[in-house]
Amino acid sequence: MNGQPLGIFDSGVGGTSIWKEIHKLLPHENTIYLADSKNAPYGEKSEEEILQLCIKNTDFLLGKGCKLIVVACNTATTNAIDQLRKLYKVPFIGIEPAIKPAALLSRSKIVGILATKGTLNSKLFHSTADNHAHGIRIIEQEGTGLVPLIEEGKIDTEETRQLLIKYLKPMRDAGIDHLVLGCTHYPYLIPLLKELLPEHITIIDSGEAVARQTKFVLEKNGTLNGTKEIGRYIFYTNTEASTLSRFLVDSADKIEVSHLEF
Ligand code: DGL
Repeated sequence: MNGQPLGIFDSGVGGTSIWKEIHKLLPHENTIYLADSKNAPYGEKSEEEILQLCIKNTDFLLGKGCKLIVVACNTATTNAIDQLRKLYKVPFIGIEPAIKPAALLSRSKIVGILATKGTLNSKLFHSTADNHAHGIRIIEQEGTGLVPLIEEGKIDTEETRQLLIKYLKPMRDAGIDHLVLGCTHYPYLIPLLKELLPEHITIIDSGEAVARQTKFVLEKNGTLNGTKEIGRYIFYTNTEASTLSRFLVDSADKIEVSHLEF
């Protein structure tokens, strides 16, 4: 059982930012990553469409014998994880925008959140915001267009820069001191965001917390891989393998990336 892989999926390449955190913390775990890039962006789809895609991704990963599923996508988590937990016995780890730490740390009591439309419109996002952001003003910003640009590898381009300048302006004008990245694609924009934001604005993302939670659940369930061997890391994508590979350069030795009709 314990040598079975962890299954990780995202609407595309963004979840590799989560895979990297998991790999750092749990290098002995075998992993299978599924990038559903053909259907990205999930953030523009309905809740039902997102759920159906999540079911398809989960079935695929369970078919490969995964012992736990990491939903490495805020949009998928906030729209579908409750249903997934009802439908399957396997443990699910999700990712949600880190509103709680941002709210606790904020001095200006104004926090910005950049996320997809699907995440910002979800019930789960609103209940988390209601529970953890008392006395905090949240400036929500949809990052429309950013996921397709990142999928295309257009990370440090003028087009991406202009879009970010536009999206950051209302948050900066409102006086945020924390910017929460509510999409697993966005950590790839951190170098550009740091260039565009004044130093007093702290960027927060949840990748490390997801890795810690994954470890915690594996330990609790007694399903950690006890081997001393480094894991085997398999990546599947339903678009060009090179699109995904460029996000994994220098990540680890044993990475295998393949295209799959899915
Ligand atoms: N990485 C996904 C997320 O965290 C991107 C969603 C999308 O495909 O729109 O929300």
